Amino acid sequence: MPVLLGQQGQPGFDRPLELMSDCHRRIEGFLRVFARVLDRYGSRELDEEGMNALRTAQRYFREGAPRHTEDEEDSLFPRLRELGGDDLRELLEAADRLEREHDEAESLHASVDARVDGWLESGRLSTAGTGAIASDLKKLDRLYAEHIAFEDKVLFPAAAQALGADELRCIGEEMAARRGRNTDGTQAPDTGGAQHGTRGAQR
Ligand SMILES: [Fe+2]
Ligand SMILES: [Fe+2]
Repeated sequence: MPVLLGQQGQPGFDRPLELMSDCHRRIEGFLRVFARVLDRYGSRELDEEGMNALRTAQRYFREGAPRHTEDEEDSLFPRLRELGGDDLRELLEAADRLEREHDEAESLHASVDARVDGWLESGRLSTAGTGAIASDLKKLDRLYAEHIAFEDKVLFPAAAQALGADELRCIGEEMAARRGRNTDGTQAPDTGGAQHGTRGAQR
């Protein structure tokens, strides 16, 4: 199941901060998918439905979520750092903390990913395996709850105030390019991997 942005009712690349918040909803949604599959299949054999759900969530965290981290670390934070100034000092310190939390999340996702691989291969989790994935997911839930709330409620609104229209446009262009898209959501030429004939960006 591809995950697309830029579809009807969703912000386009001309509203990059809203797109970043959209991505948070996907992170939360796919974490819930992992939790639901664990709840349902933790003590019994995976069936096709369970496998498909696991693969979909696994693919999102392998492909889509890292692009969101790049949107923040390579497009948004550097522009806030360029602005500098006393007014933004707290925000810049927060950006440093958020980057450390991204590293923490990445290592937890790597752990979940490896365990899900083993689960898909054997079709069944051991009691220890169930406990280990549940523990990783709990840590991710806790980490993301604060991280995402801060970005949605503090960082992005402050960035919207601090950054000019040109900077926001550049961020949107970089986000589109990262997904092999033009800023209107159509597929950019000579970019492998993106879907043909669709609008939107796989996240
Ligand atoms: Fe973040
Ligand atoms: Fe984020």
